[in-house]
Order: sequence, then C-alpha cells, then structure tokens
Amino acid sequence: MEERLQKIISRAGVASRRKAEEMIAAGRVTVDGVTVREPGTKADVAVACIAVDGKPLPEEEGRVYFLLNKPKGYISTVSDERGRRTVIDLLPVKKAHVYPVGRLDQNTEGLLLLTNDGTLTQGLLHPRFLVRKTYRAKVAGELTPKALKKLRGGLELADGMTAPAEVRVYGTTDQGLVDVEITLHEGRNRQVRRMFEAVGCDVRALKRTRFAQLTLDGLKRGACRPLTKAEIASLYSLVEER
Ligand code: URA
Repeated sequence: MEERLQKIISRAGVASRRKAEEMIAAGRVTVDGVTVREPGTKADVAVACIAVDGKPLPEEEGRVYFLLNKPKGYISTVSDERGRRTVIDLLPVKKAHVYPVGRLDQNTEGLLLLTNDGTLTQGLLHPRFLVRKTYRAKVAGELTPKALKKLRGGLELADGMTAPAEVRVYGTTDQGLVDVEITLHEGRNRQVRRMFEAVGCDVRALKRTRFAQLTLDGLKRGACRPLTKAEIASLYSLVEER
C-alpha cells in the first residue's frame, strides 16, 4: 500500500511529519537508494527500502512475514496458558508481536501466514477484500447433489448465511471418505467443518492448501519460509482500497 513518505517516517518514530517533510526537502531521504526531494512522494513500505541519512527505517527492518506449513496438534495463538504447542514454536526467530493471520484449528494442518504487520493482517482478514482460501478435506458422509448445491450456493450457519463457495469432489479414499476441495472467500471460525456438518457430513481431515496466491509448494510439514518481497507486495495489492 503506497503512503506518503513523511507519514511512513513519522510512524517509524524517526521524526514528526513536519520534520520528515524538511528531511525530504533537504535530500536526506532515499527510496531504494534514490534520493527523493519531491514533497508528497509515496512509497510502499512492504516493498521499498526507505532510508534517512543512509539508515533504513527501524520499522522496515523489524517486519517479518512467514508462510508456515502447520502440522496438526499446534494451536494458532501466540501463547497458551495450558502449555500446548503453538504455531509460534515453529518459527525460526522469536520476535515480539508476530501473530498468525487468522486461525487454523488445532486439528487442521496447512498454510498459515504469520507477521507483525498489523495493517496487512487487518486487510487480509477483512471480509470486504474476499481473500480466497482453499482447503482439502476428507469427509465422512454422502455428498449428494443437493448437499453440493447448498455448499456452493450458501447455507445457513449459526452466525448467518455463507457466501458462495467453490467445491470440487476428487473421489473417495480407501477409507471410504470423500476427498473434496473447497474454496471460501470468508474466514469464519471453524467454517469448513461447520459447513460440512450442516449438510450431514463430518470432516475427518482438513488442510489449507492455498491462501490468496500462496501455496505450500516445496514446504514440508512443520517448515516455514519468509515471504518474498513480491509475495508481500501481491498480498498488499489485494487489500488496497479499490
Ligand atoms: N475451517 C475450519 O473448519 N477449520 C479451520 O481450521 C479452517 C477453516
């Protein structure tokens, strides 16, 4: 998300907005190594390296973005008073204020983003931006044409109607479970499990395979990797006001 440089500099705690404007005019500010003097110049902190007197802004240095392949058994919180394992235990660095972007149930595995970028987190979780999440489920029960129609078209849950979803049935497993993929544009609590319950099915295994354009490609269960600058920029582009 592009913002005015003076706003970014003041939020980073380097100087007030007025002082930051003076710094820009004095040629003390660079964006990706290029001196910027134009008042009102905008930049995107997620992708640009902004420096004052040659020093990168502290806020930029401190931002982290991880894509985790969460195994079952970990809870999606930062700490747990009952001492259960949390997704934070799986990160390579321990940094304050890094939170999961939404939640996966303890028994759900798969793709989870974690970051200390509150602006991006808020955007990605906001229903207005319709960020796509894809899950692969193994469900017990019969997925009749009527059930599929309801799942796809919207059905009534305790917290209201669900939005249209994409559902694709892959077949039946050796255990007699239906192997099905579902893509949602919302992210309510336990939504996939509750949707299948509403059509008389029981989710026995659940994995998130995709979040926006991100997938688990090349990432083993329990492993995580930092997002690339291009991936961060692309997530930001999804949640910018249109
Ligand atoms: N829907 C669920 O039911 N559980 C999850 O963990 C994620 C989506």
